[in-house]
Amino acid sequence: MFLSVSSSARWSITLEVLLLFTSAIFAQSCSESSPCKPLQGGQRFKTPKQVISSGGRLQTSLLVDVTEFQVDWLNSLRRLYNNSFPSPTLRIKPGDVVSLNLINNLQEPDFSGAAINELRHPNTTNVHTHGLHISSKAPQDDVFLEIGPTQSYSYKYNIDDKQARGTYWYHPHFHGSSYFQVLGGMAGMIVVEDDPAEMSTDLDAVSCPNNCENDLQMVLQLFQYSTDEDGSFSVAQKDLHDYEGFRLNDVTVDKSSTTLEDWLEDPTNEIKYVLVNGLLQPTLVMQPGQVKRFRLLNAGGLYALAVHLVNTNDGSSCTVKEIALDGMYLDQPRDLGTGRSVLFAASRVDWLVKCPIPGTYELRSTFLPDDHLSMGEHPSFNGTLLTLVVNGSEVLNSAMPSTLPSRPSYASDLRDVTEKDIDSRFVVEVTPTDTIGREDFSESNIRYKARVNTIQEWHLVNTEYVTSHPIHMHVNHMQVISYNPYIGPYGVDDGGSNWKLFGQNGTGCTWQHQNYDKSVTITSPSDALNYLGHDEKQSSGGSGTIGYAQIGEHRDVILVPPLGNITVRFRTHKYTGPVVVHCHLQSDADQGMMMTTEIVDEGASVEASITSAGAYPSSCFRNDPVYQPGNDSPPSSSVTKSLHRSLAVPERLNNNLP
Ligand SMILES: *[C@@H]1O[C@H](CO)[C@@H](O)[C@H](O)[C@H]1NC(C)=O
Ligand SMILES: *[C@@H]1O[C@H](CO)[C@@H](O)[C@H](O)[C@H]1NC(C)=O
Ligand SMILES: *[C@@H]1O[C@H](CO)[C@@H](O)[C@H](O)[C@H]1NC(C)=O
Ligand SMILES: *[C@@H]1O[C@H](CO)[C@@H](O)[C@H](O)[C@H]1NC(C)=O
Ligand SMILES: *[C@@H]1O[C@H](CO)[C@@H](O)[C@H](O)[C@H]1NC(C)=O
Ligand SMILES: *[C@@H]1O[C@H](CO)[C@@H](O)[C@H](O)[C@H]1NC(C)=O
Repeated sequence: MFLSVSSSARWSITLEVLLLFTSAIFAQSCSESSPCKPLQGGQRFKTPKQVISSGGRLQTSLLVDVTEFQVDWLNSLRRLYNNSFPSPTLRIKPGDVVSLNLINNLQEPDFSGAAINELRHPNTTNVHTHGLHISSKAPQDDVFLEIGPTQSYSYKYNIDDKQARGTYWYHPHFHGSSYFQVLGGMAGMIVVEDDPAEMSTDLDAVSCPNNCENDLQMVLQLFQYSTDEDGSFSVAQKDLHDYEGFRLNDVTVDKSSTTLEDWLEDPTNEIKYVLVNGLLQPTLVMQPGQVKRFRLLNAGGLYALAVHLVNTNDGSSCTVKEIALDGMYLDQPRDLGTGRSVLFAASRVDWLVKCPIPGTYELRSTFLPDDHLSMGEHPSFNGTLLTLVVNGSEVLNSAMPSTLPSRPSYASDLRDVTEKDIDSRFVVEVTPTDTIGREDFSESNIRYKARVNTIQEWHLVNTEYVTSHPIHMHVNHMQVISYNPYIGPYGVDDGGSNWKLFGQNGTGCTWQHQNYDKSVTITSPSDALNYLGHDEKQSSGGSGTIGYAQIGEHRDVILVPPLGNITVRFRTHKYTGPVVVHCHLQSDADQGMMMTTEIVDEGASVEASITSAGAYPSSCFRNDPVYQPGNDSPPSSSVTKSLHRSLAVPERLNNNLP
């Protein structure tokens, strides 16, 4: 007995030495001049560095600089905050005062030649506190700030004393380089810590501040060179004229004429990963029966993730419940609707996880063939994110929390408000060639104004007939009220910058857009209406519905499917100032799929540039202003700069005929 144990132990030692030896040879044979795939990961899971407020204050700084970042044998130079991928997590509390000094150590030149709405300024930056209920005016969350090379800026945030406790994040938002910088790794989590007094003992047992060891932050970021989607870091480097010395084209592979950059971009090499806290497929160890909270943040700026835990050895599985979305607690813990939680770019989900049976599990993202029914065409990532090893002694009697803290009053339930409670309505219309409301972004072009402390009802509609867009609004979360039939036009582009709207009967619309060029021939495709009917699909539930939010959810990012029409409501609680609305596919936003709206004082004018070339959002054969209760003045003929609050259908305007 003793002998056999020792001989098998000796055998296993020999095997380990052998494995170590071969893996050393293997590791040695992989290098930048002799690359191999797949990239190897598997380090132990670790959380990002934590920076924690105390006594109601957090004073910190973030240094933006170029730093070497390594995955397996591959070293790349990235612009990062404080040399770290991901950036440190900021842990704050409602009511805190946060002073953040952003120091931009990047230098000139800054590729400033490109026009607005083109990728540009790789060395200009700023910070956005994504999802916080906060003022959008400097020195707070002002995303129009330009912090150029060698400049710095001191943000001073007054965190709302009712700020919902949950999972948020920060990332650069300079228009033109936000895609490049986020793709490169500039992103960190913000956790607004829970109040143990407001939560059940079971939830406290898996949450910071009392039990942070069970509260696991997972920042999911893209590490991609493959050119099969829009995610290639090196292609972005070329687009933004990154300094040559930061590229990977000075190394040739295996003495051939292929550069390392060419090799990495070759889609057959599949250099396309989603890292967890900067690690490739790290291993997380949990005990059987233990409950953990996972805070999952999709900080990749591009792909949707459909995350689930898969058992890799036998059929037994873990219990996983969703408890919060985009930083807001749900009413109660719930099962994963389609067996997966979908995270569009910038979305967050908080999970409770309990695995009673020892074994090896994987956190994966998997999209299924039916998913396009609710998502249309959308960049989607399939792959393993993390290995979960469940071993060790069983934890007995640890309960899954069954109740959750309530949401703050600024995010109350607006499903049952009456017509007279709704102050005004607006339509956010996603349009082709990276435009929104039929135009490219201009900071000073205010497309809508709403008064503070009112209830708004907006329709998020998408004229694109195959692609979907995750739409994000700053300052306030939107509550999902309904998925409606889509009766608006569809937009078709010519592959370049020209595009045309068609009515659903296939005839070109009477009402087009600012840059419409009737001399360009654009024909209507035969499959233009394939994606109609999200209202019915959403209410039927089941497979193919992963892209839909559930009615009543509070979100700061909502996917608007092709030919989708979603009613959302929100309160313009407290904060006046500009509010940008944009697609969170970060390169779409940088290229113009963004608009400025504004929350103004009570009694202030709400005049804004709602129309594009005289056409209201959703107009096609008719040009109807948004239905605005509470004011029955008739529309004027100079519609471009005025807001109509009319119950009547306006007279048709007869300019701008195609
Ligand atoms: C960033 O680095 C600076 C300089 O080392 C340090 O003072 C600061 O605390 C760091 N910030 C964070 C958020 O970790
Ligand atoms: C950006 O800043 C870095 C220094 O961090 C500098 O080397 C580079 O030339 C600058 N410009 C560009 C376009 O990369
Ligand atoms: C993801 O994998 C599933 C099968 O597991 C496959 O059906 C689907 O096409 C894949 N999707 C993508 C985007 O690669
Ligand atoms: C659990 O698995 C991990 C990873 O394989 C290993 O490092 C650890 O020693 C194991 N723990 C126990 C108690 O078996
Ligand atoms: C969107 O739905 C609303 C509510 O049903 C409807 O009033 C509006 O006309 C729809 N818009 C479009 C473009 O289909
Ligand atoms: C489509 O509808 C518009 C508005 O009703 C009408 O003017 C046009 O003739 C119709 N086209 C076809 C092909 O039916």
